[in-house]
Amino acid sequence: MGTLTGKRIVLGVTGGIAAYKAVEVCRRLVDAGAHVQPVMTDGALEMVGATTFSALASEPARTSLFHDPKTPIPHTKMGQAADLILVCPATARIISDMRTGRSADLLMGTILATRAPVVVCPAMHTEMWDQPAVQENIGVLEQRGVMIVPPESGRLAGGDMGHGRLADPATVIAYVERALTQQDLAGRHVLITAGGTREPIDPVRVISNRSTGKQGYAFAEEAWGRGAKVTLVTTVETPEPVGAHRVDVQTAADMQRAVEAVDDADIIVMAAAVADFRPADPADHKIKKTDGAAPHIALEKTHDFLIDLGEKKPGGQVLIGFAAETHDLLGNAQGKLERKKLDIIVANDVSQPGVGFAHETNEVVIIQADGSCQDVPLTDKRDVARLVLDTAANKLG
Ligand code: CTP
Repeated sequence: MGTLTGKRIVLGVTGGIAAYKAVEVCRRLVDAGAHVQPVMTDGALEMVGATTFSALASEPARTSLFHDPKTPIPHTKMGQAADLILVCPATARIISDMRTGRSADLLMGTILATRAPVVVCPAMHTEMWDQPAVQENIGVLEQRGVMIVPPESGRLAGGDMGHGRLADPATVIAYVERALTQQDLAGRHVLITAGGTREPIDPVRVISNRSTGKQGYAFAEEAWGRGAKVTLVTTVETPEPVGAHRVDVQTAADMQRAVEAVDDADIIVMAAAVADFRPADPADHKIKKTDGAAPHIALEKTHDFLIDLGEKKPGGQVLIGFAAETHDLLGNAQGKLERKKLDIIVANDVSQPGVGFAHETNEVVIIQADGSCQDVPLTDKRDVARLVLDTAANKLG
């Protein structure tokens, strides 16, 4: 069951050209199991037909406060029943009305009649978005607890380019999920490493491993969804999850520098598969076949910086390591937990089908420093992240 399953969402669509993208948002909400009630303003109806939303949503689109004999007071009914109101796209007009509480139409009436969280996705031309009046209104809404989905840069209506474009539908959905999730990591900084490090042999060749970063990315999604500030130190090209601050690295030494540059992490999740060995003397030119016989590449050990993190761990920080093993899972993991002074180690047997590197799923044991163990049977990596962060959040208190 996902965060959106069974949630009643009023999708308010206002009259911006980006209204056509709200159709995709509507579809994705329904696909995620939400019960979607579209409410369209007169402006929205100039952009997209009500039939489009009615066909995709869970209820017919509503367009007027009046003229529905079956529901004489639709705004209070919808506002009271909603688990969340999403305004997508939100014009400067609706943002202004929300600030002043002016009940100009069915959508504003519904917003005024709710106690549910409200998520607003502004979309307008750059000149409009930059107006002090608009920025001030946005600031006031934010202070009142309205969640604003920041607009992006890119192509705008009429062929213009600039800031103010509606956020991508996937981003909108991530914000909606966040608004419906308990914010038990609000105010916390979670530092996550992901992917296998790449140690150069020469300018074109590397020694690496099979890690794809999926488990680390799942941690980033989960931590941000629960309100944390997220820094993701990654070796893989996969675009970062919504909300994560991304730091790109390649080698174990780069990763160590990036991790040590963060001095306020409340939780560190060392999900990366850091190389244990690297070429001792990488060539500064591409090694050619014609250079002679196959080269012997001498290796040296990398520095295990998780040991440093354990040594220097500030009070109150939760340090989480991983142990990818192929035999004696619990013995090896317990040994690493003690040697590296970790609070939690997530152990997985990567020789099992569907477990560890490159899979969407994982099967792990969460071991804590006090010896307690939690078996997590094969499940998707987001679930693993959720359960590990539950344990970490408990430790933070
Ligand atoms: N790690 C690290 N720096 C390294 C190697 C590993 O910070 N140079 C971290 C990994 O990110 C992981 C944990 O240490 O969280 C355990 O990594 P793993 O490779 O399973 O264990 P090792 O201690 O390297 O032992 P071995 O390879 O012998 O199993």
